Amino acid sequence: MTPYGGSMPEEGISYEDFWRHQTGRRRAVQKTIDGVAEKLARLAPSDRVLEIGAGTGHALRHLAEKRPDLRFVGLDNDPKMLTYARRNVGNLAHVELCLADGRERLPFADRSFQAVFSEHTFHHMDDLRRTAAEIARVLVPHGLLVVIDLDRRRPVSRVFGACYPLLRAAGVRRPILEAAYISLRRTRPRDELRQLFADAGFVGSPQPGRRMDLIWTLRKTPRVFSEQSFCPVCPSPATSRPK
Ligand SMILES: C[S@@+](CC[C@H](N)C(=O)[O-])C[C@H]1O[C@@H](n2cnc3c(N)ncnc32)[C@H](O)[C@@H]1O
Repeated sequence: MTPYGGSMPEEGISYEDFWRHQTGRRRAVQKTIDGVAEKLARLAPSDRVLEIGAGTGHALRHLAEKRPDLRFVGLDNDPKMLTYARRNVGNLAHVELCLADGRERLPFADRSFQAVFSEHTFHHMDDLRRTAAEIARVLVPHGLLVVIDLDRRRPVSRVFGACYPLLRAAGVRRPILEAAYISLRRTRPRDELRQLFADAGFVGSPQPGRRMDLIWTLRKTPRVFSEQSFCPVCPSPATSRPK
């Protein structure tokens, strides 16, 4: 069970409660996803896009409606979240959902996606090294990776991180704030992510997004598809080298 999936057990917040308070967040996510859509502008019809951590399918639906010419796969490791996602994208023929763990070997062939994106999911994962290597494996050369997550360095994050425990102590408990606080604490520092992406063979930089968000726009570099350095943590590197 993940914090956003079925429930947030440590806080006793059900997913329904959480999402009921999310109108503002939904709008913010849509604006952010509009930005992702712009980054996909150069993709050709029938190109494939993977979302890691499809969650409710909200972002996926928004993007898929903007780009009906592309093919989308939404991956999540929580069956309950995929049930929600199915409600959102089930009627879109160009969107598939997939139950799989983003920390393990992804159930896709090498170079089978032109773009991968992930929205507020990386902070859920404990082993990002393997995730980054797997994303590199399934992306085509020069493929696009967009990662949206929180940023602990933003002034708004710092103020929120310092003030929320005080509000909490004073009895203020709102699902959206709880979730943001837990997520912020789990989010890796920017420098750690920069190193992680570089080690996996991506180049690119982060830009501030809305509120506490940071948006990484990265490209898989030629280094990743050279003989030696391909997918260093996959169980059988030979099978993941480019053919
Ligand atoms: C904040 S939600 C993503 C929101 C999503 N973009 C949306 O539009 O609803 C994070 C998602 O990541 C999923 N997740 C967490 N750890 C994961 C993992 N190791 N592999 C795949 N999905 C994971 C959770 O189940 C959750 O649905």
